[in-house]
Amino acid sequence: MRVLSGIQPTGRFHWGNYFGAIKQYIDFQEAHDGYYFIADLHALTTIRDPLVLRGYVKDAALDLLALGLDPERATLFVQSDVPEVSQLCWLLMTGAPLGLLERCHAYKDKTSKGLRADVGLFTYPVLMSADILAYDSNWVPVGEDQVQHIEVCRDLARSFNSHYGEVFTMPEAKIVPGAAKVPGTDGEKMSKSYNNTLGLFEEPKELRKKIMRISTDSRPMEDAKDPETDHLFQLYRLFASTEQIEELRAIYLKGGFGYGEVKKRLADVSDTYLQPARVRRAELESNPALVADILSKGAAKARERARSVLLRAERACGLKAT
Ligand code: ADP
Ligand code: TRP
Repeated sequence: MRVLSGIQPTGRFHWGNYFGAIKQYIDFQEAHDGYYFIADLHALTTIRDPLVLRGYVKDAALDLLALGLDPERATLFVQSDVPEVSQLCWLLMTGAPLGLLERCHAYKDKTSKGLRADVGLFTYPVLMSADILAYDSNWVPVGEDQVQHIEVCRDLARSFNSHYGEVFTMPEAKIVPGAAKVPGTDGEKMSKSYNNTLGLFEEPKELRKKIMRISTDSRPMEDAKDPETDHLFQLYRLFASTEQIEELRAIYLKGGFGYGEVKKRLADVSDTYLQPARVRRAELESNPALVADILSKGAAKARERARSVLLRAERACGLKAT
């Protein structure tokens, strides 16, 4: 199966991004043909400082490779390095009903707050559709929040195909069971918009300090506690082995422990988990030519595929002779 997903370079990646998205990309690369890209065109709808955007794109590439995305198995590239996607986006836009896009949450959320949205944000799901359709993708691993956009993609593909003939491969959203909804330091969903993140590559000492400041309830120490409803436990189980999880579960159910102790365990277990990626990242960072080469080979491979899909679409709608 061809598996495709994109991630926006709009900030440094956090634990939620890893366990909710990036880890699935890496798992899929073993048995499938993975296409993963850094969605810099999408990021332009929020980041308008050129240096900041460049920095996030570079960080995203280093982070993904350090976390285990393997360019020998999967294709990693930057979205804007495949201009065919923007060309395909136009073809899809000509058939995209306004009403369909008006219902999409990225645009709706912004305008419902009285904020002015630009056309880029409005047509964001069409660009995302072009991303998916350009590579004949079968599966698109995404978080719940993106499922609506995959539905838009399927609608656009279906209507193009019914008008012009079978051009696009119909993609499917893959909500990976077990992909965690990771809580942040305040117990709410971890998100850079809520300022409650724990960064994947934050300086270890800083990270430990942040972990020690995670909010907890104020029940007496001796009370037994339900691990399933506790966000510290939810975070711990992401990194810990089965035995470690069972051991901590038993402690929760028995009571008589302090949250400080759990936080210390969380800091230790996450540190051990993330350490190899930190080492790999430092190595990659000292070899920018290697990273540039990986991205340029990835883009060349992605372009080749996108070019043939674009040609198919252009022929179907009469822009090119068949
Ligand atoms: P943020 O909310 O920090 O802006 P993004 O919206 O850029 O993060 O998310 C990028 C990817 O990471 C998406 O696939 C999203 O579903 C996933 N993701 C983000 N935060 C979490 C979380 N707390 N738990 C699980 N997945 C998450
Ligand atoms: N919109 C997605 C997000 O914010 C990123 C993205 C862009 C994407 N194009 C895509 C994801 C194509 C999957 C497929 O998370």
